[in-house]
Formats: sequence, structure tokens, C-alpha cells
Amino acid sequence: MARPKSVLVGEVGPRDGLQIERDFIPTSTKIELIDGLIDAGVKEIEYSSFVSPRAVPQLADAAEVLAGLTRSKPVHLVALVPNAKGAERAVEAGVDELRVFVSSSESHNQKNVNRSVEDSLVGFENVLRIAHQSGTPVSGAIATSFGCPFEGDVPVEQVGRIAKRFADLGMVGVGLGDTTGMATPLLVAERCNHLKTVVPDLPITLHFHNTRGIGLANVMAGLDEGIDRYESSFAGLGGCPFAPGATGNICTEDLVFLLHELGIETGIDLEKLCAVARRVEDVVGRTLPGQVMKAGPRLQLSDMEQVATAVG
Ligand code: COA
Ligand code: ZN
Repeated sequence: MARPKSVLVGEVGPRDGLQIERDFIPTSTKIELIDGLIDAGVKEIEYSSFVSPRAVPQLADAAEVLAGLTRSKPVHLVALVPNAKGAERAVEAGVDELRVFVSSSESHNQKNVNRSVEDSLVGFENVLRIAHQSGTPVSGAIATSFGCPFEGDVPVEQVGRIAKRFADLGMVGVGLGDTTGMATPLLVAERCNHLKTVVPDLPITLHFHNTRGIGLANVMAGLDEGIDRYESSFAGLGGCPFAPGATGNICTEDLVFLLHELGIETGIDLEKLCAVARRVEDVVGRTLPGQVMKAGPRLQLSDMEQVATAVG
């Protein structure tokens, strides 16, 4: 299958990344980072979540962040919601899209949202009803789509069944989340092909973590299947507080660098994006995994005078 000519890069750092930070990041700092992403040309941002503030205190300011954004360019702002209460809060705040989430495995769903997979799916009916009253689209994400930290391999049919329920409920897209970095290129190809048969009209988004260092190899596998939507996090920040060993998402600047070098358009200004990623490092106060933000563009040349010459 031909690789896509352009790709929608969905930035999830403000949600998937910041949610694990222990110290509360001021609302104004979140606004500054998200406005920086918008200015860099990022078209879709999962910018926060309307979950229980007791479960994720860092994102308790989701409504205030949205109200404070300048939005210098067109952008689609998505919020994660776990239930009807989250949907009501998100619709009232005026988000562009709601995203519900369920794990493909029972044990991770219990840890994450304290209920069975079936109860989550039934609960989404209320979310969709609330969203549709205000004309807000809803998409669905399937966590642990490539394997579960508690159960191991997840049969592809289990992922397909959930995606089919999403389609039947009227959702606008399905995301396959690799919550703990268990995806491999072969699994990516298998899962994408299965979904293309089960839900041919539902756009697929791939959401990888770089836990085992092959996040961008998985992106290559997705591109070869024609998938044109990927999610990543600025500076590679990320993790899931409800899954052991969940480390950073794939890094947005590194993903954009790869896509541009493949001749695939994203509409994103890589230098501006790197500046935002370096600011994220300042904000969290530690070195983050992103590599292009440190190395610079491929043709950023070094000054020979500044580099020592080997002797002998
Ligand atoms: N927004 C704000 N508050 C919420 C809420 C929401 N979306 N959903 C529930 N609450 C509140 C309830 O009002 C209730 O408050 P009270 O005790 O003051 O009355 C309390 O949270 C418990 O509600 P309950 O429905 O019993 O939920 P729970 O304790 O079973 O928790 C979730 C379920 C889904 C709300 C919670 O586990 C959660 O928010 N998880 C988020 C997980 C997450 O963000 N994971 C990262 C994505 S991978
Ligand atoms: Zn994630």
C-alpha cells in the first residue's frame, strides 16, 4: 500500500505527558505551551482531560486552559472524557471533540477507570448523547491495543470488536493506543489490516509509546499500511499512571523530522516545535527523551573552528 502524502500529527503531550507530572503546572504555563504548539502549525491537540480531579489532579484545570488559549491558527482541540460527567463538563467548556477511552483488556480497564470493558462501552452511549446534543464529535481510543501489562498478548479480534462498537455508536474515529510500548511493526500491520476489514469507514489513528525504543519503526509500519494519523508528545514526555512501566510517548519533533525527511507533509514548522519542546524541558525541570530538539535539523552544520582536531 502507498504511503500517505500528508499526515495529521495529533499532539497529546499536554494530556498524556503532563498528566504524570507530580507538581502542579500552572494553568498559564499550560496555555503558553499549547499556544506555542498552535503557532508551530499543529492542527490537532489532545489538550487535557475531564476526568476525576482526584484521579488526575494535574488536569483539573481543563476548562480554564481552554478558555485562556489565544488560538493564533486553526486547530482542533480534543479532550479525553471517561464518563457522562466528563462529557457534560467538556461540552460546557466548548471543546472541539470528545475522546472516550477503554482498554482492550479487562484488567487494565479496571485499573484505569474502575469498571469492566462492557460497562465502559455501555457508558459511552450517554457520552455520545450529550455530545450530539451540542453537535460535538466523539472519537474513541483503545488502550493496550498491542498488549496489556497485566494480561500479555491481546487477540486482534478483541480490538476489532471494540472498534466495531465505536463505529456502531457513531464515533468519528478509532485510535489504537500502545499504552506500555508493546507494539511491534508486525503487530501494527496485523491490527491495521484487521481494522480495515472490520471498520472500513472509520479513520484509524496510531498512538505509540517509545518504551522499547521502536516507536518510530512502528510508525514506518503504519505508513506502509497507508495510515495517515499519528499521536505523539512534545519532547517525548509521557506515561500512564495506571500502567507499570509506561514511559514516554513517541516524540513529536522526532516524528515530524522523520515524516518531512520521507517527503510527507505535516504543515508543522519543526524549528518552532523544537522551541516548544525545549520549553517543556524547562517546565518539568529534567532532560526529556526528544532527540531532534537537541541535535537540530539534519543540515545544521558545525563550525570547524569550534571542534578540536585530533592529534597524531
Ligand atoms: N469529572 C469530575 N469528577 C468526576 C468525574 C469527571 N469526569 N467522574 C467522576 N467524578 C467524581 C464523582 O462526582 C465522584 O465525586 P464525589 O465522590 O465527590 O461524589 C467521584 O469522582 C467518584 O465517582 P465515580 O463515578 O464513583 O467514579 P470512580 O471513583 O469509579 O472513578 C473515573 C472512575 C473514570 C471517574 C476515574 O477513575 C477517572 O477519572 N479515571 C481517569 C483515568 C485517566 O485519566 N487515565 C488516563 C488515560 S489512559
Ligand atoms: Zn498514551
